[in-house]
Amino acid sequence: MSGALAALQSALPELPLSTDPGDLDHYGRDWTRRWPPAPLAVARPGRIDEVQAIVRWAGEQAIAIVPSGGRTGLSGGAVAARGELVLSLERMNKVLAFDAIDRTLSVQAGITLAAAQQAAGAQDLYYPVDFAARGSCTIGGNIATNAGGIRVLRHGNTREWVAGLKAVAADGSLLDLNRGLVKNASGYDLRHLLIGSEGTLGVIVEASLRLTAPPPPSQVMLLALPELAALMPVFKACRQRLSLSAFEFFTDRALHHVLAAGAQAPFADSHPVHALVEFDVDDDDAQSDSDHDGQARALALFEHGLEQGWIADGVISHSQADAAALWRLREGITEALAPHRPYKNDISMRISAIPGFMTQIQALFARDYPGFDVIWFGHIGDGNLHINILPPERMSGEDFLARCEQVTGQLSRALAACGGSISAEHGIGLVKKPWLGDTRSAAEIAWMRAMRTALDPAGLFNPGKLFDP
Ligand code: FAD
Ligand code: MLT
Ligand code: ZN
Repeated sequence: MSGALAALQSALPELPLSTDPGDLDHYGRDWTRRWPPAPLAVARPGRIDEVQAIVRWAGEQAIAIVPSGGRTGLSGGAVAARGELVLSLERMNKVLAFDAIDRTLSVQAGITLAAAQQAAGAQDLYYPVDFAARGSCTIGGNIATNAGGIRVLRHGNTREWVAGLKAVAADGSLLDLNRGLVKNASGYDLRHLLIGSEGTLGVIVEASLRLTAPPPPSQVMLLALPELAALMPVFKACRQRLSLSAFEFFTDRALHHVLAAGAQAPFADSHPVHALVEFDVDDDDAQSDSDHDGQARALALFEHGLEQGWIADGVISHSQADAAALWRLREGITEALAPHRPYKNDISMRISAIPGFMTQIQALFARDYPGFDVIWFGHIGDGNLHINILPPERMSGEDFLARCEQVTGQLSRALAACGGSISAEHGIGLVKKPWLGDTRSAAEIAWMRAMRTALDPAGLFNPGKLFDP
């Protein structure tokens, strides 16, 4: 252990501090698997004062810190490949308090999303941020990426659910931001500056999460569609006629990989596109008694879609097990694709811009990705497409990446032209850094840099992520 690390260890004798190669490898990477991990060491503090001491030590030693949650990130934000100290929040994983009147749950930042959801459920309440990485990703990581997921259509992103947070700043001081207040008109809301900051402005150590009433009973319908262009009319009809809690989509190629990973085929025939629709069984806002029956309205919508030629087939859940099996087809995509090392896009646009954009991008991808496996899926009800690319057989990793980056340049310029964003929910991290300037203006980036420099002048937190120093 170097002298600097030995000094840290002797200042904090109880701190688990590791330079074990297995730990460096494990804690130095996220789901991107692109950069070989090379951290200096891994620190796993258990208390806020330890985090503060580590940050002060890092400042004195000029050692960069990578704040680390569950490392399920898909943009390289938690990668430590340049001798940084990984500051893992995994031991700070407790529920601290619940307040029934405020309807808030205070947690340490290293708690997993699933554990926070369970703690909300134990109070007969609901924390609505949700997605497939729930078992491993952490609330700190969710806040740092302003995570989205499968319930954004109804409940919004993580940002909507953070009533307050505590963060350790670059000088080691502890900021207590918004303190759970519903209204607070006392200047800049620094809580929101930390949300989505990708570990570049401070280490989030605690959060106060807003909870809401549990959702009403729901059903899931999987619709088979003849083409991507059918998605928008189906979405429009679903939004008009059902009380929607999710509207997701995936193509036949996505389904192919999920089935290859062991899921059950939903239909006898193959179809180009699928929409997964989740809706309330009873709709309290319905105008008449017959309108209350969500299933009846879903079936009428299905018939209408068949007549219009937007829908080719469909299946509806009759039990929680059915619903889970249908969700697995959508939620299993990331894991099914991971062994193939996909190049991932996570793009965002206004929902109204989707039809024109999809046509444009289909043409671009057909031309520039010949023989590649192009897999479309995502949260289309939020205007968020995840288009994953797999290489043709025998293409080298280097050639594949070079081609994907070249096409991403064109994709990014097309997004800029329609007012979209190069990242919807995964963040910029290392992966999307080259294109930040396409969909954020020079003035916006100058503001971001100015904030970063003011709050972390030495560039201690996650340097090289989001933008270069
Ligand atoms: P990490 O990967 O550890 O870190 C992510 C970023 O946050 C890094 O920049 C890191 O430095 C920073 N960070 C982490 N903890 C802290 C902290 N305490 N203080 C300051 N900065 C911190 N994302 C979505 O938005 N929607 C989805 O639907 C979705 N689905 C996914 C499905 C799968 C199967 C997988 C593997 C990932 C998915 N993701 C999704 C991406 C990922 O899970 C999210 O970005 C998640 O919020 C990351 O949390 P984490 O704890 O793993 O963060
Ligand atoms: C998803 O929606 O499944 C996630 O964002 C993960 C991914 O894009 O692979
Ligand atoms: Zn997603």
